[in-house]
Amino acid sequence: MQQQSTQQLDSIHTLLIFGGGSSEHEISQISANFIKSNLDTLPNVHVSMVEITQSGWIINGNSECYLDIHSQELVTDTLRKHVDYVIPCIHGYPGETGDIQSLLELAKIPYLGCGPQASTLSFNKISSKLWYDALGVANTPYLFISELNQDNVAKAHEAFSKWGGLFVKAACQGSSVGCYPVTKGSDIEHAIEQAFGYSDQVLIEKMIKPREIELAAYELDGELKVSFPGEVKAPSDTFYSYDEKYSADSHSTTDIRAQDITEQQVQLMQSYTRTVFKQMKLKDLSRVDFFLTEEGDVYLNEVNTFPGMTPISMFPKMLEANGDSFPEFLNSAIVSAVKSTTK
Ligand SMILES: Nc1ncnc2c1ncn2[C@@H]1O[C@H](COP(=O)(O)OP(=O)(O)O)[C@@H](O)[C@H]1O
Ligand SMILES: [Mg+2]
Repeated sequence: MQQQSTQQLDSIHTLLIFGGGSSEHEISQISANFIKSNLDTLPNVHVSMVEITQSGWIINGNSECYLDIHSQELVTDTLRKHVDYVIPCIHGYPGETGDIQSLLELAKIPYLGCGPQASTLSFNKISSKLWYDALGVANTPYLFISELNQDNVAKAHEAFSKWGGLFVKAACQGSSVGCYPVTKGSDIEHAIEQAFGYSDQVLIEKMIKPREIELAAYELDGELKVSFPGEVKAPSDTFYSYDEKYSADSHSTTDIRAQDITEQQVQLMQSYTRTVFKQMKLKDLSRVDFFLTEEGDVYLNEVNTFPGMTPISMFPKMLEANGDSFPEFLNSAIVSAVKSTTK
């Protein structure tokens, strides 16, 4: 038994899964290429990259494959290979939603990142806020609706009169898809209708003019580490939309260390991040996004359980700026998980 675990640690077959077919499919491919280049620096890790497409799981760009959850093997036309570890590098469905993690739990294969429950709770913009409220973590004022009817539209109009503007969001989407800023009362119903086109529930938030602050939270050698806040600056008249996040001509800029932020605000964000990470049982990594309002209030906006890792993404940079190495972080997560399954 001892010999088997040593062998496995010498050559850990890691399945790097990306894609998923959601609006974030292509971003996840870019993130996966970044992770692959880091894994390639680890001599004990051997990687197979698999893309989840609408028509199936694809290896090496063209052959079909699947994961045999009984034998824990990756199966192609020509080979069966035991999988020691999985990195579900998928933003949105079926990664951050918790679906693939449920499959991996059934298969009893260790993986990077949060488990199914923490993923699902964090991904749903309503269930996450119920948790933040219960934990005393401040977040943007909101209401939520589960049906498009006249009573609920009336509630949204009331909220609009109170708050002066709304941000309407589909409960289960990411990358700013299904998010609608509303500045005119006459647009409320249409925004809600559109958001229901993406999810069964809709979150309606107070519109604010926030600074967008992000923190990296990650576990290294069993210790939870929380970075200094970084900042994303979208051009002043827009929100941080899908195009701003990812397009080649995005005008957004980033500060790995946010400027003009008080010690007290930094501490509050770090302490909220720790509370949520520990209480909601997040695992390995998450990017925790905050709003800092013009009045200086700190609101936790959302937790991204598998943050983007494109060249302009903040998570790996904040981890490095915090004094740690991204490949070492991956190595520590992989080796400790594989060790504990071969004990
Ligand atoms: N209540 C709000 N007021 C003003 N802008 C908002 C509000 N909520 C979200 N935004 C803007 O929309 C972007 C996307 O919203 P977010 O809740 O982060 O959803 P996603 O999961 O799609 O990233 C945010 O980064 C921010 O720019
Ligand atoms: Mg966001």
